[in-house]
Amino acid sequence: MKKGYILFLLTFLSILTSCKKEKITGLITEKAMVVSARVEASKIGSAILEKGGNAYDAMIATHFALAVVYPVAGNIGGGGFMVYRNNDGTKGALDFREKAPITAHKDMYLDSLGNVIDKKSTLGAHAVGIPGSVAGVFEVHKKFSSLPFKDLIQPAIDLARTGYKVTEKQAISLNSKTEYFETVNNYKTVFEKVWKVGDILKQEELAQTLERIRDFGKDGFYTGKTADLLVNYVTELGGIISHQDLEKYEAVWRKPVEFSYKDYNIISMTLPASGGICLAQILKAIEPFDLSKIKHNSTEYVQLLTEAERRSYADRAHYLGDIDFVNVPMDSLTNNNYINQRMKSFSWDKATPSSEVSHGKILGFESDETTHYSIVDQFGNAVSVTTTLNTGYGSKVVVKGAGFILNNEMDDFSSKPGVPNIYGLVGSKANAIASEKRMLSSMTPTIVEKEGKLFMVVGTPGGSTIITSVLQNILNVTAYNMGMQESVNQPRFHHQWLPDVIRMEPNGFDAKTKSKLETLGYSILERNSLIIGRVDAILVLPNGQLEGGADKRGDDTAVGF
Ligand code: DON
Repeated sequence: MKKGYILFLLTFLSILTSCKKEKITGLITEKAMVVSARVEASKIGSAILEKGGNAYDAMIATHFALAVVYPVAGNIGGGGFMVYRNNDGTKGALDFREKAPITAHKDMYLDSLGNVIDKKSTLGAHAVGIPGSVAGVFEVHKKFSSLPFKDLIQPAIDLARTGYKVTEKQAISLNSKTEYFETVNNYKTVFEKVWKVGDILKQEELAQTLERIRDFGKDGFYTGKTADLLVNYVTELGGIISHQDLEKYEAVWRKPVEFSYKDYNIISMTLPASGGICLAQILKAIEPFDLSKIKHNSTEYVQLLTEAERRSYADRAHYLGDIDFVNVPMDSLTNNNYINQRMKSFSWDKATPSSEVSHGKILGFESDETTHYSIVDQFGNAVSVTTTLNTGYGSKVVVKGAGFILNNEMDDFSSKPGVPNIYGLVGSKANAIASEKRMLSSMTPTIVEKEGKLFMVVGTPGGSTIITSVLQNILNVTAYNMGMQESVNQPRFHHQWLPDVIRMEPNGFDAKTKSKLETLGYSILERNSLIIGRVDAILVLPNGQLEGGADKRGDDTAVGF
């Protein structure tokens, strides 16, 4: 009788545990990890860490590897931002964002009637900003590296020369752009063929460019043969980049945006990236609400985040631009009283139309005017890097003889006040084009601390959706107790003031939630092709282990030990 009862209990328990939804976890490691858009790049970065290199050594190796295996966004012809936190708690940020050429001017994308010329800021040589990535990695090497530069770049050189296998997603992506590569370039680039999964992509000219960088340092890119090839080709295609532009480019160390949200301390990128300021505004707007009473991804949740996002993106459009050029009231914009005031018009009963929301009033202020990778090393240092050519394969200009793709970052400027860029973002004078100015970015490489210790490293590509994807991942983990991979897998949504729609990932939100939102006056846009970001993140678990979150919307992979 007793035996039968125990058997029954055991069977019941085993049914119960098999029914319980298995908790999703990403790669868990003891000491160190690299999460990036491609397994080859994550492996190269992780191997550098295993050799005794630090997070900065791994950053350099991963960055160059992505320039080879992930040409859609990995780059030497683009730029980006890095936020770091060392094991002693010191933190900082590096801006290696592209700059407008010296001869660039406010109206360079307008026709004689003052209208924006279609595609001039997105496709071809006119769209190109002065690349910052190579200057960026050399700054990192000078300040923090522990291994010789040549050891960090060599794996990428080898990968470019011997080639790597194209993935299915990559084949689809490359094939979708053949026509653009053909239109923009005056020779047949290495990217033009009908790609199938498993094809080998070799890039000999890129290998040689990387060798010049290995042998001559920053000069191997900004002067000498590489610079000649770049300037000559851009000129041949009608662009305006000069030798002087390249020689003058400098990456800049900046003070990151740092703020508290509940029990957490958040360190994120400052201008010319808008990510940190917008993230601070949105999180502070949400902070007074008790999320434990609001179900994740419910109508109320979408509503609250949307209204906070709407107000922040309205400020972004008006106030934000390159702080080396315009006076941005950063403290006022992230002040709690100001943000609470902005949220006063929020109502649970109906949407606030964007037409009724403009930028907030800042007293006493007078205006004068992507791929992401996360790394934690075995010493406890962390880097969060977002880098990009802007849209996929940037301007589609592949420098003849040098094998690398140039960005189309100039489109991140506001070509004309009120006219949306490719991400639908509008801007004002603060983000107008000017000689040598940096264009406003949405990139949001972020590090979160809890109780003074490293807690999370996070970031993503996704244009204007970058900020809101980082936001949702911070909330998934901090308010909804999700693990890192579980968080990355969650469906995401986005609102950016204009256009006045909530973009939602298809099939991620239930019909009831959507119809309730529509009843409240929200417009919803759900498209099959719409992927909101590819988040690559690392979470420090309570026992000190690391959990990777690698976004399966892409080929992203975590590797570590
Ligand atoms: O800096 C920015 O905000 C954009 N150039 C980022 C582009 C991007 O994330 C593209 N990825 N989908």
